[in-house]
Amino acid sequence: MSDTVLSIEDLHLSFPFYRGEVHALNRVSLEIKRGEIVGVVGESGSGKSVTAMLAMRLLPEGSYRIHRGRVTLLGDDVLNATEKQLRQWRGAKVSMIFQEPMTALNPTRRIGKQMVEVIRQHQPLTRRDAQQKAISLLEEMQIPDAREVMERYPFELSGGMRQRVMIALAFSCEPELIIADEPTTALDVTVQLQVLRLLKHKARASGTSVLFISHDMAVVSQLCDRMYVMYAGSVIESGTTQTLIHHPVHPYSIGLLQCAPENGEPREMLPAIPGTVPNLTHLPRGCAFRECCFAASAQCDETPRLTAHGAAGQQAACWYPQLEDRHV
Ligand SMILES: Nc1ncnc2c1ncn2[C@@H]1O[C@H](COP(=O)(O)OP(=O)(O)O)[C@@H](O)[C@H]1O
Ligand SMILES: [Mg+2]
Repeated sequence: MSDTVLSIEDLHLSFPFYRGEVHALNRVSLEIKRGEIVGVVGESGSGKSVTAMLAMRLLPEGSYRIHRGRVTLLGDDVLNATEKQLRQWRGAKVSMIFQEPMTALNPTRRIGKQMVEVIRQHQPLTRRDAQQKAISLLEEMQIPDAREVMERYPFELSGGMRQRVMIALAFSCEPELIIADEPTTALDVTVQLQVLRLLKHKARASGTSVLFISHDMAVVSQLCDRMYVMYAGSVIESGTTQTLIHHPVHPYSIGLLQCAPENGEPREMLPAIPGTVPNLTHLPRGCAFRECCFAASAQCDETPRLTAHGAAGQQAACWYPQLEDRHV
């Protein structure tokens, strides 16, 4: 059995609208192996959520167009899967944690009832056993008085507690992959750190792979083994977290990191990078970062492909990778 949990290959996706098309994903490739925690980082609008939603085919059918590419989840073709297959995979193979748990939790039903229902949808457990499982998952998420929390409604919990419940729920069906899209962005910094630690610990203990999405390089670097940096719908650099935070070679990644704090405390804002994100309806020819880039030249009229730089599988899509910084 292959040890690749999710693979996205050369994906081109757009959203057509009455006057054109938003080219949301351009040549996106990424891969997650069994047990890996992989980050996708980039500023707002860079295509992180669209990538995550597509991996579970959660984008509204008919709203988007795939021009090219392939998505496979544990070897199965996602783009050509039937609704029935997708329903079976969601929850059982892959589950998702969103930024705002209130959108995923039903506000009118008690936490315990919701968890038991989700667990029993995918696993042949009695109500009693499912309840026991829910309680131990909540305890693993260090929720005090887990038994009592089972009786509460989502709105009765704090934001941090709700997000812990969501993580417990995401793990409840023992999926191979959890996709977490900005799961801690709405939380304050201390709570954010606690929740991230719990997520990482549980993922490691259960061997679950995680695709972790954030606009915040510091958060991604604390959690992930590897990361992909996205800009204007493309992956512009990828590599191990260690390599990327110490030796980024793409001028955009270097800019992202320059303002990241030394001590790795999570940050609220992305650093300011000169220029604006390009219009995805009329993408410029060549490298999309060219207008904002200190290293740009005429060569950048041609689109750079991801190519290997240095050790540890680091790749960057740039004609002028900043290799001289490597000894830093
Ligand atoms: N349903 C949609 N229809 C049209 N455009 C969309 C839709 N969803 C996302 N987009 C566009 O796709 C681009 C990428 O969005 P998204 O993946 O949500 O960015 P991120 O999560 O990195 O902030 C943005 O320009 C966004 O406006
Ligand atoms: Mg998003």
